[in-house]
Formats: sequence, structure tokens, C-alpha cells
Amino acid sequence: MPITVVTADITQLRVDTIVNAANPGLLGGGGVDGAIHRAAGPALLNACRALPESAPGVRCPTGEVRITPGFDLPVRYVIHTVGPIWQGGDHDEAELLSHCYRNSLRLLREHRLHTIAFPAISCGVYGYPATLAAAVAAATLCDEPTHDASIDITLCCFSDAMRAIFQGALNAV
Ligand code: APR
Repeated sequence: MPITVVTADITQLRVDTIVNAANPGLLGGGGVDGAIHRAAGPALLNACRALPESAPGVRCPTGEVRITPGFDLPVRYVIHTVGPIWQGGDHDEAELLSHCYRNSLRLLREHRLHTIAFPAISCGVYGYPATLAAAVAAATLCDEPTHDASIDITLCCFSDAMRAIFQGALNAV
């Protein structure tokens, strides 16, 4: 299961699915969520709005995942996940962030997909310290069954600085 770290705009990547760092309402936002919705077009918002709410205003609880088509994006699917908001580290943030990565890979397998790109989940608006988030991502992804050579993972960072952090975390596992 090769893991590659790149600096790129995730909306440009040609993989089976990209992961969106969304909020529980799944109705768009800023950051990578906004970029993905802009690139996918209004059909993505309609698809998200059609997803059932598990609580008022909640279509995807933190750590869970939902999947939609990619519409105008160059990908078949978008896996939406909601990372934890950083609150100092003693509110299960690491476990919830790990669930984002693990549940995304579960959906990848369930849909018999092979290539996936993750943004730096929670490292923007949600304030998760990048070095800590990268360590969680690396540990989770490297804990996945390595025999799964059919799965190709890209960690898509939006800056070279972030790429260095995620590459360093992978090297340290
Ligand atoms: N491609 C790849 N990465 C991107 C892109 C892009 N086009 N745009 C932003 N990023 C990076 C950010 O630089 C950051 O490193 O994605 C990472 C995650 O940052 P956010 O998008 O702010 O996501 P997050 O911290 O998980 O906060 C989620 O922000 O946009 C809202 O609706 C979203 O409420 C939710 C919250």
C-alpha cells in the first residue's frame, strides 16, 4: 500500500476518490471543502443535501464518512469526512482523526476503489497542530493491512511546508 506525499490542489488529482475535510452539515464551507464544492459544481451540494441527517443539521458526525459522486471533479467519488476540532488534545481528537482515515479506507474497499487522496484533515480551520495530525495520519495509514498492494494513497498537502511535515511523519513510523 504505497503512500505518497505531494503538494497540490486536491481538486486537480486524478484518483478514484478524494477525501473532503467537511463539517457535520456537509453543505460546504471554506478551505478544501469550498474548493471541492466549487470544482464539483452545484450537483455535489444537492447530493450532500439529500443525505439523511442523523441529528438536526448533522449529516456526518465527526470521525465518520459519507460518499457521493465527484460530478465535475476528475474523480469518480468524493468521500466526505469530518475531522475533530482541536481542543487541546484531551477530547479524543487523535482517535477521532484516526477514524477519519480508517473509515475513508473502509469505504474505499467497500466500493472496490484503488486510489485515494487525503487533504491534511483538521489542519486548517479546525486548528489541529499539523505535526500531531500528521503523526496520527501516518500511524493510522501504516497500520492498515500492508498486503493491500492494490490500494494507492496520496497525502495531498497545500504547501511544501505541510508536505515536509507529513513526509517526516511517514518517515518516522
Ligand atoms: N487542496 C488540498 N488541500 C487544501 C486545499 C486544496 N484545494 N485547500 C485547502 N487545503 C488544505 C489547508 O491548507 C489545510 O492544510 O486542507 C487542509 C485542511 O484545512 P481546512 O480545509 O480548513 O479543513 P479543516 O481544518 O478540516 O476544517 C474543516 O473548514 O472549510 C471548512 O467546511 C469546512 O467547517 C469545515 C472546516
